[in-house]
Parts: sequence; C-alpha cells; structure tokens
Amino acid sequence: MPDLNSLPETITAPRTDAIYNCHAYLTKVPVAAIRPFIETFSAPGETVLDFFAGSGMTGLAALMAGRKAVLSDISVLGQHIALGYLAEVSPSAFRQAADSVMEAARIALGDLYNTRRASDGAIVELTRTVWSFTYICPACTNKIVYYEHLSARGAPPRQCPSCGEPFARRTWPRGEDVPVEVVVTGENGRLASQAVSDFDRKMIAAAAADPRQKEVPTLPIEEHREMYSRSGLGKAGLTETARFFSPRNAIALLELWRAINAWKDAEIRRKLRFVFTAILPRASRRYQWSAKRPLNAQNQTYYIAPVYYEWNVFDLFCRKVEAALRADKELFGGRGDSLLYQVKTRDVLYKLASADRLSHIKAASIDYVFTDPPFGSNIFYSDMSLFHEAWLGHTTDNESEAVVHTTGKRKNGAAERYEELLRGAFAEAFRVLKPGRYMSVVFGNSSGRIWGLVQRALRDAGFKAAPVHVAILDKGQRSVKGLNSGSEGVVTVDLILTVQKPGCTKSADNPSRLSNGDTAALIREVIADLSIDDARNPSYVYAHILTKAIQKHLLLDDLHLGDVLVALRQAGYTIDRKTGLLAHVLGGAV
Ligand SMILES: C[S@@+](CC[C@H](N)C(=O)[O-])C[C@H]1O[C@@H](n2cnc3c(N)ncnc32)[C@H](O)[C@@H]1O
Repeated sequence: MPDLNSLPETITAPRTDAIYNCHAYLTKVPVAAIRPFIETFSAPGETVLDFFAGSGMTGLAALMAGRKAVLSDISVLGQHIALGYLAEVSPSAFRQAADSVMEAARIALGDLYNTRRASDGAIVELTRTVWSFTYICPACTNKIVYYEHLSARGAPPRQCPSCGEPFARRTWPRGEDVPVEVVVTGENGRLASQAVSDFDRKMIAAAAADPRQKEVPTLPIEEHREMYSRSGLGKAGLTETARFFSPRNAIALLELWRAINAWKDAEIRRKLRFVFTAILPRASRRYQWSAKRPLNAQNQTYYIAPVYYEWNVFDLFCRKVEAALRADKELFGGRGDSLLYQVKTRDVLYKLASADRLSHIKAASIDYVFTDPPFGSNIFYSDMSLFHEAWLGHTTDNESEAVVHTTGKRKNGAAERYEELLRGAFAEAFRVLKPGRYMSVVFGNSSGRIWGLVQRALRDAGFKAAPVHVAILDKGQRSVKGLNSGSEGVVTVDLILTVQKPGCTKSADNPSRLSNGDTAALIREVIADLSIDDARNPSYVYAHILTKAIQKHLLLDDLHLGDVLVALRQAGYTIDRKTGLLAHVLGGAV
C-alpha cells in the first residue's frame, strides 16, 4: 500500500505557474496538483496513463517526476499543445528563430500596422487599437458608439443620447464595429493613447480589401454545434473562425504562420507553432477591453465584448516566446537531478483515441492512471478548439466526445451516451492497469446524479467501490457565478478520487444509497465540523460533504450543490454577492 500520509487532503494548486499559464486549454489541472499523486502511486521509471489527457499536464508531471507517460484524447488541439510543451529547444536558437520569423512576417505584412504618432508625426508600428460595438437606436435610428457613452466606471450607456430610449444591449440592432483609440510607444518610450486618424482608417480599409484575407485559415462553426447557439454566433454573424480576427491581425497572423511553417528545424518549428496557437485568443476580437486593465479572452465561450482589443500580433508573440522559455525551464530544468531514471521527452507518447477504445495499450501494462474526464454538459471542447484547429489544418473527430448536448439533434440520448462513454473508459482503465494498482480521477460537478454515475461506472468496471483516497482540489478559481441565486451553481472545487484495481478477484463491495434524512444530517455534521478556512465558500462545503458521504460508502445521487446552498442558508449563512464567500449571521440556526 502506498504511503498515503504524504498526500494532503486538500490540494491547493493556484493557476499561476509558468507551465500552466503558457498555453491555455479548457480546465487544465496544474502539474503541481498531479505530481504528488504520481509520486505516491507509482515508482520512478514506471508508466502513467491519462486517457482524457487534454493539454497533457499529466504527461508533463510524469516527466518531471521521472515516469514515462501514455497520453490520449480525441482533441487535435490538446495533442498539439502537449507536444508543443514537450518540444525541447535551445533558448538562444529558439529566440533567434522567433526573431527571424517575426522579421519575415513584418516584411510580408508591409505597412498595414503603421500609424502616425500624434505627438511628432512619426510613422510607427501600432501597439494596439481599441474597437467598439455600435448600436442603432430602434426609436430614432441614431447610431451609438458604445465606448463613447460608457460611464467613468465603465458602466454601459443607460439610454439613447438623442431620444432617451432606454438602452438594451440584447435587443438593439448592431451597426459596424469602429476603432476608437490607438495606443503607440511614445517618444519617451512609454505607451501613449491617441485618437483614431484617417491614416488608421486607410490602413484598416487596405487590410480589409487585401486579397490575402481569403487565404486566412478558417473553419465554419456550424449551426449544429452547441457553442453556435450558446455564444449566439448566428446573430452576430460569427459563423466561421476567421471572422474573429480584425483584418490587420488576420494578415499579420497569416504571414507569421507561413514563416513559422517554413522553418527547417522540426523541434523549433513545433515550439514556434505552439507559441503561435497560444496567442490566438488574444490576437482576436475575443480579447476584452476593460477600463482598468485588459480582461483576457474567455476560453469557454466565443464571447466578444462590446469593447475589445486589436493587439499587435508581434508584441503578443514576443511575450509568449519568453513565457514558453520560462515554462521550459520549469519543465526541463530540474529534471533528472535526484531521479533514479532519466526520462526523455520521447517517453511521453500522445495518441488521438477515444477513452473507451484504448486498443493501442496492452492489458495489465500500466502502473498508474491519473485522469480528468470532461464534466458533463458544461464545456464543449471540440467546438471551442475549432478556433485553433483552423490553423492546424486538422480537426477533432467529436463523434465520441463525452459531453452532454443540450441543443440540436445530439440532445436526444445525450446523457446516456455520456454515461456509456465514461463506463467504457473506466472499463478500459481497468483492463490496462496492472492488478493491485491505482487510478485517480479528477471530477467536479454540482449534480449528485453525475457523482452517482461516476461511482457506479467505477464499481461496474471492477474497481473497489470505496476509494483509497479522496482529496479536494482547489485550483484557486474565484468564479462563483450562479451561487447567489441558489440555482445550479458552478462548482469551483473538484475532488480527486483514487480507486484500486483488486489484486486477482473482482471486488464485491457495494455502496448504499443515501436514505431520507441522510443529506440533511451530513450537511449538519459537516457544517458543525468546518474550520473557518474550509467554510470559505459553498463549493468547499459541498466538496467536504461529498467526501464524507464517500467515506461513509454512500452513493451520491441525491447530493446536489443546490440543496447544500439551501441548507447553508437555513443554518444562518449568507453568501457575499461580490466575493461568493460565506458569512455566518449570528443567531442563525447553527
Ligand atoms: C477536463 S479535460 C482534461 C484536461 C486535462 N486535464 C489537461 O490538463 O489539459 C477533458 C478532456 O476529455 C476529452 N474528451 C472528451 N471526450 C473524449 C473521449 N471520448 N475520449 C477521449 N477524450 C475525450 C476532451 O477533449 C478534453 O480534452
């Protein structure tokens, strides 16, 4: 039995490390959270498997811990990101290559990024341009430039400045987006804002009319895609990925991509391609402006904010090159110092395969599984990946994607297909694991039904029903959207369940259903035991209740976050609207 004492019950892994931040992928688990599990449940030189590998964080953690890794996922983008991390390059050769491709792309771009600096009339390359939506007042047909009518604190306009009609962002028709501010490096070397000039408008028009627009890689985001309706793409006319780029950025990206793909050294080319896809969201109109500081791009949706950036692609690329080198330092830096086995990047394999079909892996050949399945209906990986995959020229086959569709044709039987897939995946995990070895599964959901499903799928695959370890994974997210309403909330804390494949015989233990009153009793028990730190937000309390129920060998079907929120309120807790933190009102029921 591994030494479980070295494994903390709460793993706090803030998403701030150099590896995590280098290339976004939806719902990444930081390597620092994975590594202690790999070190507890496997030995150096052994093989770790992740069959929902995404951007490959398990593979990187394995490499850092001196283990080999077998990764798979259906995601073309995930594989691209993981292999990009693993490309080993010399920092100086890489910087030189990055400079050369940028130089080539700048020449090919011509003067499209030029602007006239207001202070001295010099022609300089722009740093960024801010763009705004325009709206047409339905009452008087007056055109409103959204940005120009924001309050000092950035609040939306209240009414039409001409006729006083109340402003309604959802229903007012949109006009053409317009540039509203240009930022350049001033004569003193500091950034300076200036008004948009005719010179700028001429450059924008020239870029829009440039025949290369037709060569910009693009993919349709079709109506049957869940994100088409969720992000309102039809109404906004955003039905293909290239439309997310401003005309100038589209050509700058095209020329940079061409120069990168012409680079001879395969390893450097791989790393450059990785850096390129890492900048795409910020190089697009998805990069949200805010009065205080840029708000990043939302990577779970195709949302474009009413005020957004057109950020200089070369500037973004330059910064990301340095970020990639910082990630490399963390990933490759200390590797091997105190390890028994020197693992090479080629010892991390990544195959495109559905988790329920791992025929490339022999039975009883894997020493440990760490995996992070999709969460159910929340995130549509393959729809969001189109944005990057348009450039990669290869798209994810999402036929077997483990998501629950809530719109379109695939809605019918979606939950059953999800369950089937998860069962198939756990059955494959059971087959390929050596007897007596372990699998850790990361899972976060606010619905007890999904938790119950996971428990049953693990048991039916043959794993011992009672987990050997349950940990709370806190990725440091602060999003508490939905929690205040008491409706289905967004869980910000995940659990990591570790189960064991029995030695020889199949396990016969069965968890029992929660009976009436158990939920309320459990909630009371957990609330009474909570330390101030643990009671900080409702998700934490929910995670503690789930953990307790699992330890008591109970099925989780009837434990929903919504019920916990109601019970917390009854126990005298309130949830701060802004921070999502819990506060206890004296005199409450507890
Ligand atoms: C929660 S994410 C994993 C993220 C990963 N932990 C990381 O660090 O990037 C779940 C992954 O499951 C993948 N997936 C969905 N359906 C799948 C299937 N049938 N087979 C394999 N992977 C699938 C998605 O593409 C996504 O990358």
